[in-house]
Amino acid sequence: MKRMIVLLSALLIGGVAAIRAEVLSLIPRPAQVQETGGEYLFTARTGVKAPKTEAGSVELFGEWLREAYGVELKSGNGRGGLTVLSDPSADDEAYTLSVKPGGITLRGGSAGIFYGLQTLRQLVGETDGHVRVPCVEIADSPRFGYRGALLDVGRYFYSVEYVKRFIDRMARFKLNRLHWHLTDDQGWRIEIKSHPELTRVGAWRSSTQKSKDKTNQDRLPHGGFYTQEQIREVVRYAAERKVTIVPEIDLPGHTMSVLAVYPGLSCTGGPFVVPTEWGVKKDVLCAGNEDTYRFVEEVIAEVIELFPGEYINIGGDEVPKDRWSACPKCRKKIKSEKLRDEHELQSYFARRVGEFVGSKGRRIIGWDDILEGGVVPGATVLSWRDETGGIAAAKQGVGVIMCPAEYLYLDYYQSADIAQEPFSIGHLVPLEKVYSYEPYSRKLTPEQCRHIVGVQGNFWTEYIHSESLMDYMVWPRLLAVAEIAWTDREGRDYADFRTRMPRILAGLDREGILFRIPEPGGLNEAVVRDGKACVELVSPVEGAQIFYTTNGLNPTAKGTLYTGPFEVPLALGTQVKCVVRVPSGRSSAIYTVTNKKMPRQ
Ligand code: ACM
Ligand code: ZN
Repeated sequence: MKRMIVLLSALLIGGVAAIRAEVLSLIPRPAQVQETGGEYLFTARTGVKAPKTEAGSVELFGEWLREAYGVELKSGNGRGGLTVLSDPSADDEAYTLSVKPGGITLRGGSAGIFYGLQTLRQLVGETDGHVRVPCVEIADSPRFGYRGALLDVGRYFYSVEYVKRFIDRMARFKLNRLHWHLTDDQGWRIEIKSHPELTRVGAWRSSTQKSKDKTNQDRLPHGGFYTQEQIREVVRYAAERKVTIVPEIDLPGHTMSVLAVYPGLSCTGGPFVVPTEWGVKKDVLCAGNEDTYRFVEEVIAEVIELFPGEYINIGGDEVPKDRWSACPKCRKKIKSEKLRDEHELQSYFARRVGEFVGSKGRRIIGWDDILEGGVVPGATVLSWRDETGGIAAAKQGVGVIMCPAEYLYLDYYQSADIAQEPFSIGHLVPLEKVYSYEPYSRKLTPEQCRHIVGVQGNFWTEYIHSESLMDYMVWPRLLAVAEIAWTDREGRDYADFRTRMPRILAGLDREGILFRIPEPGGLNEAVVRDGKACVELVSPVEGAQIFYTTNGLNPTAKGTLYTGPFEVPLALGTQVKCVVRVPSGRSSAIYTVTNKKMPRQ
């Protein structure tokens, strides 16, 4: 299934827009940036002065500066160095950053200071042995308060170390909510002291489905879980990076790992095993059985103790009603609670769990499915199937986090050329599509839009079985999520984002992150001049080399090294193929465009 790209279809007379030699490679793009000329130089004498309350953020920055550039910040003397000031009147996440030749001043709320240091980190560079920062005046604050990423550790277990790295990297781009999807049919990953069997049994499966064919099984045991001590450590680590963890205990569906332990909490009595195949299961927690509510409350009580954030996510997605319809207990509950049907039973379930969570001073988030049986008071809704749920919720004054699958399910393919991509669950969400997402639906009034509290990219892991593959799926798409979440609509422009991305990706390359190397800019466009077509490529990663061919052969290192615009014949069927080799030596897939249509002259 090769993507049919029309080369030369856009007839552009004249040159492509000139690209500034130097761009400030800031992602997400700050609200206001002004380059003021000149630069600040870090030296062996550079000092840092900061309030004690922000010492943690400053220390993280200092550690990075030492490791990346060998610069050791001297503490205590901010004059001519870095001065950090708390601004009690600023929003917690807002900051201003002033870089002058004589010193750097960062002022903001507590999270704002952390974010200002992330911005500063993106500004630091080294040339001719000097560690430099261009002079700028930046005033910045986020568009949305909830800027999230979902990590599904239920389908595949990810180590504590990986989860920390994930948090560290999302925080660097000013994302502030980790939606930690801790339980699913195929694995229960959180230690619950009152129910040790959940992890002793529910965290393990005997085999895993490897492709869309359910019988294609690896026959290898898989599992793992986080102890409460490890979870506390991750929560602490996240807090240092201004990331709040939103734990998800997915209820009442996606609970086969529970039913394998407690078949009595199902409608049929089981028996069950932790499934080895993907897909929505008909067996769910029985919503007519009071034991279910007791169990749920015991679990949630421990979860609340571990996670200090405002939100507890209780799931609620994909609950087939088959078992409930046939279950005498569920039918009885529908009757006794005067509910209309099983959909209202689902909302009843969410309401009851929500009331319990509310009694502990917290609030629930649920997938948009929970709205099908009516509003759940106090709940915030994740609009995932599309925007319909989120729009309906916002119209009713219910808080919404937008993550429609079509734009923000980042387990989907990044390119239509799937032969060259790792096997994925399907569909297509390339970088540009992610970037194009606008959380404020046109179907909502500005007043209703106020209920959209944020946006989130979701990494489901049915087919993401390793940390390196996860990194490939995350980057660079999470950069686009970060910008949608942080930057105002007026400040967003894909072409501009692409000019800021190469330097960021070069940094990720130096860290050894195996991100997907994007197609070079300009590959799909040709400039036609004097009857000739000219292709001008823009490297997607700073310092990368591009090798290309125009004769249909695959470009390896034997292709022509791109050094500037080149001509291609103006003929149907002409192909331009290229590979991008990033500084660490890794090569991209082969990117091909084919001229399918002659331009009108
Ligand atoms: C979901 O993707 N089932 C929320
Ligand atoms: Zn039942």
